[in-house]
Amino acid sequence: MTQVIANMKIVAKAMTLLLAALFLADPVFAEGDPEAGKELGYSCLGCHGIEGYRNAYPSYRVPKLGGQKAGYLVIALKGYRSGERSHPTMEAQATSLTDRQIEDVAAYLASLVDDLPAAAGSEAPPPAAACVACHGQNGISVNAQWPTLAGQYESYLEHALRQYKNGDRANAIMVAQAGLIADEDIPLLARYFSRLQGLETTRAE
Ligand code: HEC
Ligand code: HEC
Repeated sequence: MTQVIANMKIVAKAMTLLLAALFLADPVFAEGDPEAGKELGYSCLGCHGIEGYRNAYPSYRVPKLGGQKAGYLVIALKGYRSGERSHPTMEAQATSLTDRQIEDVAAYLASLVDDLPAAAGSEAPPPAAACVACHGQNGISVNAQWPTLAGQYESYLEHALRQYKNGDRANAIMVAQAGLIADEDIPLLARYFSRLQGLETTRAE
């Protein structure tokens, strides 16, 4: 019995350390200035501000950014700038931006939408069980650097998952995750997360 309690204490301590490590691993982003990011932000809304706008080839919807985590927007933009994440239009958009401009435009885009509600999730399909640890029970991510999936376009989510699976998008965490899911589960996961309440199409005020 005492042995069991001792073991439980060790487990509890390990959990605390793990949680502490997760918080420490969250680098503090320089707060962007939404006012300064406004002008640049308008140019983004030419695509991201139009409901249902499509990427021509391959055909999928331009991702919603409204309510997306600002820390993740910064990571995504730096990924396009460095070429780590490839997409001709977005590379062209990001290539000339400074770190400061990226932080400002992310802050501007984030300022256009109120905090997302912690909406009640519907029953998650079994393959989504692993995803919610990071992307949240309701598809609203638990960490500023991880994207919210709730309400994102189904065709974009499917596209992103296929990119991780075939190596076109090389994020170590998600490549590992995508490797664990079956091809036929991709549409199921995309449909599930897209139907949760969450991200919106941003509009200029
Ligand atoms: C010509 C249309 C167009 C314009 C203009 C544009 N984008 Fe994009 N953006 C896209 C497309 C298409 C994607 C999806 C690319 C992919 O598949 O990786 C995207 C992806 C993104 C992503 C990644 C979203 C995610 O969920 O991972 C961010 C962040 C982003 N854009 C921010 C911006 C910002 C900031 C601007 C303005 C400086 C901008 N975009 C201008 C079309 C555009
Ligand atoms: C350990 C944490 C973790 C788990 C578990 C996880 N993800 Fe992710 N996910 C991430 C991170 C971090 C990113 C951003 C990666 C990048 O920058 O490309 C991401 C990105 C994504 C994206 C791209 C979103 C966008 O806006 O471009 C999709 C789609 C996605 N994950 C779906 C899933 C699904 C479905 C599962 C379950 C099978 C899952 N994830 C499990 C951490 C996780």
